[in-house]
Amino acid sequence: MKTMTCIEDLRQTYHGKVPRAFVDYCESGSYAEQTLRANRADLERIKLRQRILFDVTNRSTKTTILGEPATLPLALAPVGLAGMQHGDGEIHACRAAQAAGIPYTLSTMSICSIEDVAGAVDKPFWFQLYVMKDRGFVRALIERAAAAKCSALVLTVDLQVLGQRHRDIKNGLSVPPEIRIKNIVDIATKPAWALSVVRGKRKTFGNIAGHIRGMENVNSLSVWISGQFDPALNWKDVEWIKSLWPGKLILKGILDVEDARIGVQTGAAALIVSNHGGRQLDGAPSSISMLPPIVEAVGSDTEIMFDGGIRSGQDIMRAIALGARSCMSGRAYIYGLGAGGQAGVARAIEIIRNELDVSMALTGVTSIAEIDRRVIAAM
Ligand code: GLV
Repeated sequence: MKTMTCIEDLRQTYHGKVPRAFVDYCESGSYAEQTLRANRADLERIKLRQRILFDVTNRSTKTTILGEPATLPLALAPVGLAGMQHGDGEIHACRAAQAAGIPYTLSTMSICSIEDVAGAVDKPFWFQLYVMKDRGFVRALIERAAAAKCSALVLTVDLQVLGQRHRDIKNGLSVPPEIRIKNIVDIATKPAWALSVVRGKRKTFGNIAGHIRGMENVNSLSVWISGQFDPALNWKDVEWIKSLWPGKLILKGILDVEDARIGVQTGAAALIVSNHGGRQLDGAPSSISMLPPIVEAVGSDTEIMFDGGIRSGQDIMRAIALGARSCMSGRAYIYGLGAGGQAGVARAIEIIRNELDVSMALTGVTSIAEIDRRVIAAM
């Protein structure tokens, strides 16, 4: 893993090791992928301000996220199907995050279940919730997350209906993967992947199979989601969820100032500025372009996290400079997971941490608290 020098190295290795359908699932945005591209392009447009001759001997990337110590302002984002990128992928990612001292978020649409992960790690993790029409099932999921001692509930609020990702449809993305003629060569040339997935605990959605019928074999994820996810989800339901969840509630998928204001009134512990990695409303603004107005409106009332295109420590610096308290990233660690399991995720986190550390030195700051607009170059 030491020869992996940047997230792009991990991404290229990942592309060579994991079957196309799962790579496409990870990489895709919705429709024309304008928002997916805007997330990266708008981050890259923000130039950092080179400063010189400060004593930067003693630097620290340490911070707190929702009051808990973290070694850098980063949490691993919830990503569906991680256990199809590498066998037991969620356990590997959670272990790597915990060893690095940052939060891990388990997706509702994970392969390993809440209980599988809780049984394999020794510290609490966060659980991401999707709200299905079957409210009894949703209540049970919340209770399972509480029983597993999850330390925060991340409610995703931007996916009542699914934005179409063309490649998932063309690939016939299914869980477990269907052995079609088209897939055979692809899978046959990915032996390490196949072995890890065959050895993995589960081949289907661990949180859902056995609880909702038809989940053992999902041959069209998009059709299944549109049948189960509740398009009626609204702010009253957030109150209901809050009444069931004893701990910290985080709302993920806020991209609008008005929504942020309502979100704060729910008493949520944090809001995550996010457009779901460009996977939902195509044509929506980039996450980074909406961060400043949201921070300006509600940043003094609640903790703001940033999600959308983070691939480097420099990107984290940009988001923190614009007012985020911490960031989330999904694809960056999935590349590591596919490239090398737990060691790959650990490497992804280490790469980003080192980049942040060096960027701090070269912008003349020594602590996360010092990062503000002054590290941005006037353009
Ligand atoms: C679901 O969360 C997805 O983005 O695929």
